[in-house]
Amino acid sequence: MNKDLRSFIGEARQLGSAFYANVSRPVDPIFEPCVIQQKLAAEGRYPVIRCEKVNGSEYPLVTNVFGNYDLLGLALGVDPLEPKSAILQRFIQGEANPIPTKTVQRADAPVKQRIFINEDIDLSKLPIIHHAENDSGKYITVGVLVVKDPDTGVLNAGMYRHELQGKNLLGCMFNPAHHGGYIYRRYKELNKRMEAVLFLGHHPAALIGSLCEGPMDLSELEVMGGMLGEPLEVVDGETVDIPVPAFAEIAIEGYLDPSNETKDGPFAEFTGYYGPAKDPVGMMNVTAVTMREDAIYHDLDPAHQEHNLAGTLSLESTVYDNVKHLCPTVTGVYMPVSGSCRFTVYVSLKKRVPGEGKSAGMAALTANPNIKIAIVVDDDIDIYDEQKVLWAIATTFEADRDMAIIPNAMGSHLNPAAYGEVRTESGPMNTKVIIDATRPATLHFEEPIKPPREVWEKINLKEYLD
Ligand SMILES: Cc1cc2nc3c(=O)[nH]c(=O)nc-3n(C[C@H](O)[C@H](O)[C@H](O)COP(=O)(O)O)c2cc1C
Repeated sequence: MNKDLRSFIGEARQLGSAFYANVSRPVDPIFEPCVIQQKLAAEGRYPVIRCEKVNGSEYPLVTNVFGNYDLLGLALGVDPLEPKSAILQRFIQGEANPIPTKTVQRADAPVKQRIFINEDIDLSKLPIIHHAENDSGKYITVGVLVVKDPDTGVLNAGMYRHELQGKNLLGCMFNPAHHGGYIYRRYKELNKRMEAVLFLGHHPAALIGSLCEGPMDLSELEVMGGMLGEPLEVVDGETVDIPVPAFAEIAIEGYLDPSNETKDGPFAEFTGYYGPAKDPVGMMNVTAVTMREDAIYHDLDPAHQEHNLAGTLSLESTVYDNVKHLCPTVTGVYMPVSGSCRFTVYVSLKKRVPGEGKSAGMAALTANPNIKIAIVVDDDIDIYDEQKVLWAIATTFEADRDMAIIPNAMGSHLNPAAYGEVRTESGPMNTKVIIDATRPATLHFEEPIKPPREVWEKINLKEYLD
């Protein structure tokens, strides 16, 4: 059986209420699914949420697919009993073993069960959500856009926000540093239209693969296969020469004409703050919509932690590579939700050499411009437990000796604390900090207290507690 969004929802449902919640009462597409998600989060609950009925649409909606780190593990087939570090290792393995796509016939592609072309296209029939009060409108937030590099023919995939701007029009915002942005600019130089397929709703392992930060000549469609552990099955487009994932829920085909652009934003961002309006952004003219008979619409609340978590493994893997290059004994990398899964990184290390903690911190900071705080701990500290990380800082770190501050470095303009070349103005720079909370490599240091191993292993709480 092919892995797809519904096979994943089925798995989540089987695991019970910690992983799956159903909403049968109709919800309003203005804010309501997000607020349900946020209220659950306020109770410490992050299940996949299925809304059976969204007012004004015939399609059900699923959200919170990337709601917490455990769901990322479930997506990548990691046993929940394995340590959390296995999730990053599984991602690294999938990234290193891309699988070529497999083309199937239309009859074998559920995404072709319903086809709308020309006048029959009406995107407003989809339950596209208005997520936050100051957002400029309704956005498709978790669609994957596939385009072709005009020079190499390599297919590029990435997630970019798409604002609903008409029944067959979508805004499309590329960060200029992303490959999608490079390719779009290249079409602009060539004065050509860029064909595209925006697909919605697939197995989250495939979506995680679409966010991989590999080189531009590696197609993310193959990395999606690596993450799925099976080839991504694709089928020809109806109106474009771009393959469509056959087991997607919905595929939107069209083209972006760089001579006819639009604007979008403001937009609630992964930082928990609004990002500014963007002008210009690309505009997608939709030429076909194909979908399953009973298509499920996949949404993601961009100001909820699921936005941050969706892309976190890709970033963690980049940091892991960078640190491992310099410090081969790195044992773990984690980008916590408390740092928006972008700004703060925890690195654990089996320290062998004096100074290795600071060096690991430098390598982590340079892996991605978003990162501004790198905290390095010894390998016996559980980096997935923030209390343990803070304890390591409190008991091993002295600020005058173990901290390095690097001002005026390339950062993220979306971080509200960022500044420009004039320090009091906002801009794209951040001050980076390394906190080296590792113990000395060669000098004596107090031993952390641990329970005796044989007693720990012997005691089964169920046998001791009344
Ligand atoms: C939910 C979500 C929404 C995103 N929205 C955008 C976006 O609007 N524009 C953008 O350039 N990147 C966005 N990103 C980040 C890119 O999808 C990601 O960096 C991807 O690897 C870019 O691929 P590319 O370098 O092949 O273009 C988003 C990521 C996630 C997880």
